[in-house]
Amino acid sequence: MATGRYTRIDTKRPSSSYCSTVTVVVFVALCLVGVWMMTSSGSDISTPNIDVPQEKQKTEVKQDVVKDNNESPAPQFEDNPGDLPEDATKGDSNVKSPAEEKGNNESSNETQSEEKQEEQSKEVEESKSDETNKSESNEEVKEESSESKKEDGTEGSKTDGDGNDFGEKKESEEGSGESKPESDENEKKSEESPSETQEEKKEEGGIEEKVEQKQENESDDSSKKEDGEAKEQGSQEVFPSAAQLELLNESATQNGSFSTQAAESKSVKEVKTPSSQQEEFTWKLCNTTAGPDYIPCLDNWDAIHHLRSTKHYEHRERHCPTEPPTCLVPLPEGYKRPIEWPKSREKVWYANVPHTKLVKIKGHQNWVKVSGEYLTFPGGGTQFKHGALHYIEFIEQMLPDIAWGKRSRVVLDVGCGVASFGGFLFEKDVLTMSLAPKDEHEAQVQFALERGIPAISAVMGTLRLPFPGIAFDIVHCARCRVPWHAEGGKLLLELNRLLRPGGYFVWSATPIYQKLEADVEIWNAMSKLTEQLCWKLIKKEKDTVNGVGIAIYQKPFSNECYEQRSQNEPPLCEQSDDRNAAWNVPLQSCMHKVPEGETERGSQWPEQWSARLQKLPYWLTSSQVGVYGKSAPEDFTADSEHWKHVVSKSYLNGMGISWSNVRNVMDMRAVYGGFAAALRDLKLWVMNVVTVDSPDTLPIIYERGLFGIYHDWCESFNTYPRSYDLLHADHLFSKINKKCNMRALVVEVDRILRPEGKIIVRDHVEIINELETIFRSMHWEIRMTYSKDKEGLLCAQKTNWRPEEVETLKYALM
Ligand SMILES: *[C@@H]1O[C@H](CO)[C@@H](O)[C@H](O)[C@H]1NC(C)=O
Ligand SMILES: *[C@@H]1O[C@H](CO)[C@@H](O)[C@H](O)[C@H]1NC(C)=O
Ligand SMILES: *[C@@H]1O[C@H](CO)[C@@H](O)[C@H](O)[C@H]1NC(C)=O
Ligand SMILES: *[C@@H]1O[C@H](CO)[C@@H](O)[C@H](O)[C@H]1NC(C)=O
Ligand SMILES: *[C@@H]1O[C@H](CO)[C@@H](O)[C@H](O)[C@H]1NC(C)=O
Ligand SMILES: *[C@@H]1O[C@H](CO)[C@@H](O)[C@H](O)[C@H]1NC(C)=O
Ligand SMILES: *[C@@H]1O[C@H](CO)[C@@H](O)[C@H](O)[C@H]1NC(C)=O
Repeated sequence: MATGRYTRIDTKRPSSSYCSTVTVVVFVALCLVGVWMMTSSGSDISTPNIDVPQEKQKTEVKQDVVKDNNESPAPQFEDNPGDLPEDATKGDSNVKSPAEEKGNNESSNETQSEEKQEEQSKEVEESKSDETNKSESNEEVKEESSESKKEDGTEGSKTDGDGNDFGEKKESEEGSGESKPESDENEKKSEESPSETQEEKKEEGGIEEKVEQKQENESDDSSKKEDGEAKEQGSQEVFPSAAQLELLNESATQNGSFSTQAAESKSVKEVKTPSSQQEEFTWKLCNTTAGPDYIPCLDNWDAIHHLRSTKHYEHRERHCPTEPPTCLVPLPEGYKRPIEWPKSREKVWYANVPHTKLVKIKGHQNWVKVSGEYLTFPGGGTQFKHGALHYIEFIEQMLPDIAWGKRSRVVLDVGCGVASFGGFLFEKDVLTMSLAPKDEHEAQVQFALERGIPAISAVMGTLRLPFPGIAFDIVHCARCRVPWHAEGGKLLLELNRLLRPGGYFVWSATPIYQKLEADVEIWNAMSKLTEQLCWKLIKKEKDTVNGVGIAIYQKPFSNECYEQRSQNEPPLCEQSDDRNAAWNVPLQSCMHKVPEGETERGSQWPEQWSARLQKLPYWLTSSQVGVYGKSAPEDFTADSEHWKHVVSKSYLNGMGISWSNVRNVMDMRAVYGGFAAALRDLKLWVMNVVTVDSPDTLPIIYERGLFGIYHDWCESFNTYPRSYDLLHADHLFSKINKKCNMRALVVEVDRILRPEGKIIVRDHVEIINELETIFRSMHWEIRMTYSKDKEGLLCAQKTNWRPEEVETLKYALM
């Protein structure tokens, strides 16, 4: 069966005549203007014809052989049409003679200089990680696919325009067996797929650059069973054409037709003056009460102690330190690489989220249990003794119009428990934004994220939730203990803001079916309130299997009911109240009118999923100016195409990212959601962050059936440390650099990313260079950097490294 292989790219050679050199397995020469390189990648290698390289490979693989081979491969890798055919890899590892190595050595040397002459502004560099041995326990190895381990060990691709640390790294790679591009076939094949782009680029004319791809077969017979997925390591590089990079220029003079959260929100904090940055990078470990679980804006005890009231959960709201921390959050003892989705939905490493309180409280509810080294999530959440899936299907049976994954695509789950609801809805093609306050049940959001389920720490307190109005198809709440009917229904009115006209509120709680006095009281209060809100009770039933009552309400499609109310209570909102203004905006006890104009967002239900994803929202008209300066529809389309191209040509294969490991993704500065849309076929989710000073495109993202949140990256994000596998930052750091403290953002990135997690940065070249320096000082692996003209691309991987020195954050001590 398919076995893994490693690829590597070298750009050192100026012309294809060098193909015969030692190390080349697949050599793709792209003569493109923009020096863009692309290669197709293969992940399937079926016939191991190799005999030579086995020595090294064996040692590498030995460990892995022990583990069970049952990991199911991610289909996307198996079926990857870009895979090299088996014969393309035949040449692998049949070369290893010293002479050859030498040749390689020489030629690379040569190339370096030539390339320099040709194009100074260009550099492609990929560094390889040298750790071959990881200190992972056997247990872990068994449990998880060996993918990343192997990646770290063998994959190395390095291309070098500058000649930096070239020689050193090379050695180890050569040792592991490289092959010549012996057959023309190979070359041809690998050229096939990118041919289209090649031509494009050729026309543009310019610098020649070659991509050399090396493949190493690392598996021996015993590990053959392992799926190709585990070893997928495309390291091919592909870069967007210059034209595409340009597309990223946002019009500087105007924000198009979109306002920004900063402009809309009434109480946005003042922009901080850039703090003087110290240029040498020394790192310390944060000493805080929260320890490894530190969330700067939620663990600011100094601020919390000074609150005048906590009646409205003010102590769970954001209170960011005046200066964001620049120390690194420690790792929990015994931290292991998280279990992969979908296994992670059922169990996670106890060492990664060592909280037992929740287990004690909820153990009897079949919510979460400790079993050996794992925490397991047997059924679902509080309400789902017999499984969240049954519950989900029961809801759809109650009301077929809900149509999970078709009509209903984006769901808000309030008070999410351990987010099993969202975890199982994912299977139905539904994206669920789960939220819960920090510590309410000790780290439930952390459990959710560790399980690979989207969640944020947030509370319904005194401020609006950081989402635009009319965003969610469904809002769900299962025994979420939110006092909906209190204070004139202020909190329910916030849900009303977030819910689409025609959207459903699914509420399951004891008052729905129990006859205790307290329950009846609540039910009556809710009935009155929902009637005032013109929400229609569509269904009320009891799921006897799970022993839970469910009520489903619908928000009106029109304003008719509002107009017919005998009392204007709760009142309709002022005309001036923007329903999308949500960043640091206090809750308002009012209802926005339902949009009724044909071109108003919210007046029509979006297309069914998944047509919804690519469909231009009907309310984007050509009279509006988009973020990139063209008409909004043109912009939208161009953005989609751009990211589709970048993702398929570069990110999926060119970064050495093994996507089957990637589950929790964040686009730190999303525009139209094109990046997330381009990843839709993978089993992952993308949190689209629309920064508060950017054009407010978040409604568009929701309209497409994706989700996201407003945020200001001068502050920390409401998530636990180590909760994301991949971050994507498109021209974010340069903006932050002008506004506040870029180093603090790097620290935040370090906090959010899991060890071995990666960040892809696109930005101005000087920013890229600076980031590279900073990341290196944090002992991250720089997997790839690339720059052309003034624009650059960087992919870096976080490691387990932590500093020795400690910095105590007084405000974060309880
Ligand atoms: C590939 O792995 C197979 C599996 O053993 C091995 O037989 C073969 O020699 C390897 N090929 C290469 C290139 O290693
Ligand atoms: C590499 O280039 C350097 C400088 O060009 C040269 O001195 C050196 O001999 C070359 N080495 C090899 C291996 O070519
Ligand atoms: C591998 O482990 C050995 C023994 O621990 C260690 O000396 C060596 O540095 C490790 N190699 C790597 C790459 O870690
Ligand atoms: C080539 O290999 C020789 C021998 O290893 C090494 O000394 C030299 O630095 C290498 N040159 C390059 C360019 O790697
Ligand atoms: C993009 O920005 C670059 C640099 O600012 C500028 O030279 C270029 O003209 C811009 N491209 C477009 C399309 O605006
Ligand atoms: C962390 O801070 C506390 C309180 O100041 C202090 O007692 C403790 O020693 C510090 N821990 C470390 C490791 O410095
Ligand atoms: C555009 O954005 C800038 C920066 O946020 C803001 O100051 C300005 O008011 C916005 N312009 C418009 C027209 O919204």
